[in-house]
Parts: sequence; structure tokens; C-alpha cells
Amino acid sequence: MNTVFLNGEYLPKDQARLSVDDRGFVFGDGIYEVVRVIEGRIFAWSEHAARMTHGLGAVRIPFGADHVAGLEAVCNRLVADNDFTAGEATVYMQVTRGAAPRTHYFPPAGTTPTVYAAASPFTPSRAMRDTGIKAISFPDVRWARCDLKTVNLMGAVLAREAAHEAGAYEALLIRDGMLTEGAATSAFAVIGGVVRTYPLSNYILPGISRQHALEAARAVGVPVSEVPVTQQEMRSAQELFIAGTTTDIAPIVTLDGLPVGDGRPGPVTRKVQDAFLSRLYGAVGVVR
Ligand SMILES: Cc1ncc(COP(=O)(O)O)c(C=O)c1O
Repeated sequence: MNTVFLNGEYLPKDQARLSVDDRGFVFGDGIYEVVRVIEGRIFAWSEHAARMTHGLGAVRIPFGADHVAGLEAVCNRLVADNDFTAGEATVYMQVTRGAAPRTHYFPPAGTTPTVYAAASPFTPSRAMRDTGIKAISFPDVRWARCDLKTVNLMGAVLAREAAHEAGAYEALLIRDGMLTEGAATSAFAVIGGVVRTYPLSNYILPGISRQHALEAARAVGVPVSEVPVTQQEMRSAQELFIAGTTTDIAPIVTLDGLPVGDGRPGPVTRKVQDAFLSRLYGAVGVVR
């Protein structure tokens, strides 16, 4: 039985009930986060909390830093109550603008945000890490505030479905001729030995794994550059990889059915991946 958290209560998931007027349901009017838990320890809590606080503030959902900070204890309790303290898990958290009669403009002041959190067991994919993944390219039809982790994920859903239908794991999104990011991951190209990725802006999510990947690369002497990769550069890149909370670093071995480099994970990706994984497991005190 999975215990979840909803509006201050811990209860079995099949007993959790939401109003059909919830603005998360009606408008996708909410912000979410996903954290990784290793041996009962949350990785990069403060970074996730800061991003969530920023997102909630930007869309003016009244759930400030103190409330977000309180979710750390909720995550820990869900991990403990569901017996996920050994091995790995993820916790999904979502805060919406609450339930109110449907109006596009904000509901009356005092409408209580809906707060939901659920933990799931997680096993990192060895195959993805070791042999890599297939990707497709896809138009980035998302809105112009991709820096906010909103519950409304239609652009990502359509892109991931196209990837799925093509037998691929990820869709690399192209906006104005540039690679922005993956549908649910940050994307990187290795060009002339330099790891390149789209700069932080309103067009990408400030990925926490992105930040750790860049820091890990620098720490092992791999040069990095936050200059957008053109679609053409992406097609001829020696190596491509993605990063995310549930992906870690995964090499991309084919793009639109064609091999990336020699069709096997490349040496720069391997170096950054290794440094990244040491950081990830090291941060929670687990020796790999
Ligand atoms: C669009 C997008 N980019 C990047 C990421 C990776 O972010 P993080 O490393 O913080 O999980 C995600 C994760 O869900 C995402 O949805």
C-alpha cells in the first residue's frame, strides 16, 4: 500500500481525493518537483526547494519558501513510511493554486493551495547509462516560460510520445534552429572536445542535473560552454548526452535513426558521466 501526502494528511494513495475544481486539474495551474532519494537521503534538496520556491513565486501561488522547506520533512516521512530507506526512490511533489470555481483569473484570496507528494521506488537504468539511448529531434512547441516547472507538460508529452512511437527514449527539442533541451532532460553536445549546452534562460528548465553535470565536467578538466548548439552542429556532434534527476547522464547513441559519432558512448560523455555519478552518490555518502 502506497502512502501519499495530500493537504496535510498521510493516507493510502487509493483514498486520496481531489476536487474536480482543482486548478491543477482544470488549468495545469501548479508547480511540481521530483527529487532523488538514495539510501534514504534526498539528493540536492536545497536546489530543488529553491527552484520550486522560485517557480511558485513567479506564478504567484501563495506557498513561500518556508512552506516549501516544510516539504523536506514530508518527503522524508513518505520515504520512511513506504520503506524506501534502502536502495533508491523518487518523491514527486506538486502544489497547485487550489480548488475554486473555474475562472482564468486567480481565485479569491485565501484559496488554499493543494499540496500533494508521493514516493516511488526507483532503479536507475544500467542499460541507459552503459549502452546509451536513442533520441529523435522534435520541434520545441512549448511556451516561453520553460524555466518554470509547471504541471502543464503538453509540449513535453507530445514530444515524448513521438520519441516513444519511434522506439526512442528522448526527444531533443529544436527552437529557432537551436537545440534547447530534451522533453524531460537537459541536453548536451560534445563539439571539438567542449561540452556545450543551451544557456539558462526562459527557454529551458534550470536543470539541477545540468548544473551538476557542468560542475562535474569542469572538475575533471572538461571544458564547458553555454552557447546554443545549432541543429546542424547537433547532427554532426561527436557526442550527445542528456541529464536529469531520473536519467543521470545517458549517452545518446542514435539521433533520428542515425549513429551519433561511431554509434557508441563517447569518451567525453563517459568522463563526465563518471564524475557526475561520483558526485551524486558521494553527496549522499554512498561509495560507488
Ligand atoms: C524540460 C526539462 N528539462 C530538464 C529536466 C532535468 O531537470 P533536473 O535535472 O532538475 O531533473 C527536466 C526534468 O524533469 C525537464 O522536465
